[in-house]
Amino acid sequence: MTSGLQFDSAGRLRHLLTIEGLSRQTILEILDTAESFISVGEREIKKIPLLRGKTVVNLFFEASTRTRTTFEIAAKRLSADVINLNVSASSANKGETLLDTIRNLEAMHTDLFVIRHSESGAAHLTAQHVPAHVNIINAGDGRHAHPTQGLLDVFTIRRHKGSFAKLKVAIVGDILHSRVARSQIHALSTLGVAELRVVAPKTLLPTAVEKLGVQVYTRMEAGLEGADVIMMLRLQRERMQGALIPSEQEYFNLYGLTPAKLALAAKDAIVMHPGPMNRGLEIDSAVADGPQSVILPQVTYGIGVRMAVMALIMGGSAEPAGGRRQA
Ligand code: CP
Repeated sequence: MTSGLQFDSAGRLRHLLTIEGLSRQTILEILDTAESFISVGEREIKKIPLLRGKTVVNLFFEASTRTRTTFEIAAKRLSADVINLNVSASSANKGETLLDTIRNLEAMHTDLFVIRHSESGAAHLTAQHVPAHVNIINAGDGRHAHPTQGLLDVFTIRRHKGSFAKLKVAIVGDILHSRVARSQIHALSTLGVAELRVVAPKTLLPTAVEKLGVQVYTRMEAGLEGADVIMMLRLQRERMQGALIPSEQEYFNLYGLTPAKLALAAKDAIVMHPGPMNRGLEIDSAVADGPQSVILPQVTYGIGVRMAVMALIMGGSAEPAGGRRQA
């Protein structure tokens, strides 16, 4: 899938489909812009007029709690009009294709589509067929990419750890099925962390994953040793064909993040999870709800990051009215 499709002829970001191909400068611009938008959510009136008059359609063909809701809140905080298409009650159920659905919504003068789909490449396909004035954001496609999750994850790391250069980061769990892991790896490689590790049983690692520039660990204890950031992943049972883990209890014993395993990481390590969590399977509640967890702040930061992406690709100023850039 070509990442060149994301840019217009002047090199400006027009769609956000994947983090692959984004420069360090572009990622940092998104993070800096998001910093300036975080404060909007802390005001009494949580609204700025940047996208007033624009229409955003959320098209979620897969379940979502965090991404769909934070995109809606983000668009509303920018004063856009937001439609959440109820896909289960839409004409997609009568056989209408994705592109026909898009064309019909486009005929209603939609400016931005936020798309989640079970098929890898759905957002790319859509971006190839929309007119120049319409923008697309990929909110997760199959196993391929979840770029705004990757961006909010690196935003969270920067907020809690400062610079990326000296960090040891461990991504733990079902790497094979995870679009989040792919987006995290592209973002963290581009930002230049000192060490990027993936930790999983062999059955949950993609073929040749080391070609992505990561160090591979199949023993969790070794992978967590001295880590500054631990990014846990959900075990995606719905995408598994056949038995890829011996049993859930054994998976938890070997790869579940417990207080004992967390103690192997740096003392001030932070624990992240994109959600939804399988408590007692990939993460113990004592860790998920413990003092090193930044799992709920990740959700809050997602609003600022999604505001930033929408503002930048729709050509608005990165400067919120009455606000000041913080980074
Ligand atoms: N992290 C994430 O994508 O969560 P949702 O599936 O709830 O959107």
